[in-house]
Amino acid sequence: MKLSEIHVPTYGVLCFSMVSILFADTALSIRFSDRISQIPNDSPNQPLKTAVFALGSFWRAEALFGCLDGVVRTTAGYAGGSKPNPEYRSLGDHAESVQIEYDPRLINFSQLLEVFWTCHDSRQVFGQGPDVGNQYRSIVFTNGTEESRLAAVSKESEQTKSKSSIVTTQIRQLGIFYPAEPEHQKFELKRHPFLLQLIGRLPEEELERSSLVAKLNSYAAELCPNKIQEQIATQINDIIRKGWPLILNEL
Ligand SMILES: *[C@@H]1O[C@H](CO)[C@@H](O)[C@H](O)[C@H]1NC(C)=O
Ligand SMILES: *[C@@H]1O[C@H](CO)[C@@H](O)[C@H](O)[C@H]1NC(C)=O
Repeated sequence: MKLSEIHVPTYGVLCFSMVSILFADTALSIRFSDRISQIPNDSPNQPLKTAVFALGSFWRAEALFGCLDGVVRTTAGYAGGSKPNPEYRSLGDHAESVQIEYDPRLINFSQLLEVFWTCHDSRQVFGQGPDVGNQYRSIVFTNGTEESRLAAVSKESEQTKSKSSIVTTQIRQLGIFYPAEPEHQKFELKRHPFLLQLIGRLPEEELERSSLVAKLNSYAAELCPNKIQEQIATQINDIIRKGWPLILNEL
């Protein structure tokens, strides 16, 4: 199978030309195997931090952050509203959001903010591109005064850049983050059955927890920076060339 057959182009990503410094040059070493336990994953003792942003579709939002160096895990969900236990078809006043667990030794809240501002249009009222509605509004969720301060400063600088158009992004204390239904997790990756097969048809729980899967989800959406897209594509082609028993599961 040629890569072109599995590689469905989606939306382009201009934002990363500006934040490419956040990506490791050569740190990527994906080893696919038929057992997730052999895939390098987060160590249990890592002191992770959590950030939550709303910036349009949570399918895209997960994919935007999943490839960043230092991001360990991404989860699509609902936040910012008052309705208890929101669901996709009835999310009430919540916004589609992404929760990002990250290693603060490798990336910090300011750098995540930079990706947030660069990778969506904070001036669009209640929507992003064709996704229009309250659920697509732009929000930086904060946890504590220091994050609120950083968010406010970055919003101000964004407003300065935007000149006359108003930055609509809200900054608010995170209440409850409700993870979305499984079918919305790693949505971009799930649109590519071949890639799912390549990582060994992981159970849903592993799909949601694995750092490698978060990265592949970005790859599937073509939201990794070019260089990393190419690295991953090369590795996948390598695996295919070496005759990884892709089809055996199928038969
Ligand atoms: C902020 O989030 C961390 C987890 O990342 C949590 O341990 C801490 O209690 C939170 N602090 C506040 C002020 O909410
Ligand atoms: C985040 O990391 C960058 C790069 O290492 C650094 O310049 C910046 O001061 C850090 N910001 C905070 C708030 O720690």
